[in-house]
Amino acid sequence: MSSIAISKSAAASLPASAVSQTDEPLILDATTLQSNLNRQPFIIGHNLANHPLFTLSRLIELSTSLPEDCVAYNSGDVSLSQGLYRGPRNGLSIEETLRQIEECRSWMVLKFVEKDPEYKELLDECLDQIGKTAGPIATPMMKREGFVFISSPGSITPLHVDPEYNFLLQIRGRKIVNIIDPADRSVLSESDLERYYTAPSGEFVLGFEERFRERARVFELEPGRGLHFPVTAPHWVENGSQVSISFSITFETPFCERRKTLYALNSRLRKLGVRNPISIGRSNTIDNVKYFGLRALSRAKRLLTKP
Ligand SMILES: [Fe+2]
Repeated sequence: MSSIAISKSAAASLPASAVSQTDEPLILDATTLQSNLNRQPFIIGHNLANHPLFTLSRLIELSTSLPEDCVAYNSGDVSLSQGLYRGPRNGLSIEETLRQIEECRSWMVLKFVEKDPEYKELLDECLDQIGKTAGPIATPMMKREGFVFISSPGSITPLHVDPEYNFLLQIRGRKIVNIIDPADRSVLSESDLERYYTAPSGEFVLGFEERFRERARVFELEPGRGLHFPVTAPHWVENGSQVSISFSITFETPFCERRKTLYALNSRLRKLGVRNPISIGRSNTIDNVKYFGLRALSRAKRLLTKP
């Protein structure tokens, strides 16, 4: 596959049919959403760039009210192979990092911001709008979670994959997102996916290789723009020359749980000596036999071992 880098102007343009309702947070094109959700990345618009929940002072308040394990931060001077959350500490507290974000060359994420009722309300508004516009392909929408990323000029988010449907809404500053087709097995192999779905949380690292640049689509995000990331699409992000604030809204569908179960099963088969278990997605019939067979087995095991 050749490089399919998108020009800045093309990346910035939305379909003419994208609908902006002043009372709705997102600007969505129903056809684009329904045809591309969880298949390929696409740009959306949003009306949150001046939303009061994303001022630095409100984010400092949020960072102090969230449980400690919901805030992660490190130096933004990391290599693309570093693995998420593995950068060196910056020697500052959470509040100092946010107050000095212009110059402290750091990267911070506030996780599960839906724990705060105001952020939960906004997250629900956004996801409800996506659910209503996308229809059955985003139903049922489970595990609704929100994340806010705050990063210094020039900081890097290393190459990684995420397990959920994601829309990254750019609130302040600019960033370049490099994203690879999740079906590109020359970057993310079947055995990589097996490792990803069976590794303890945060342990999987997909080492960056220079050849990945040729495989990536490139999107430039600016305030008012958002990008959809399909499940497990490998990506890395480079900040522009200003502080960046982004709001990530995520959810799962039964597709996510099924995919995790199937990859975990293939991993087990490989460990039992099956050299090349049939790839997930190659045959829906075989995937169904594996998935429903495993579920029946688990149910039987639970019944037989009940006290
Ligand atoms: Fe990500």
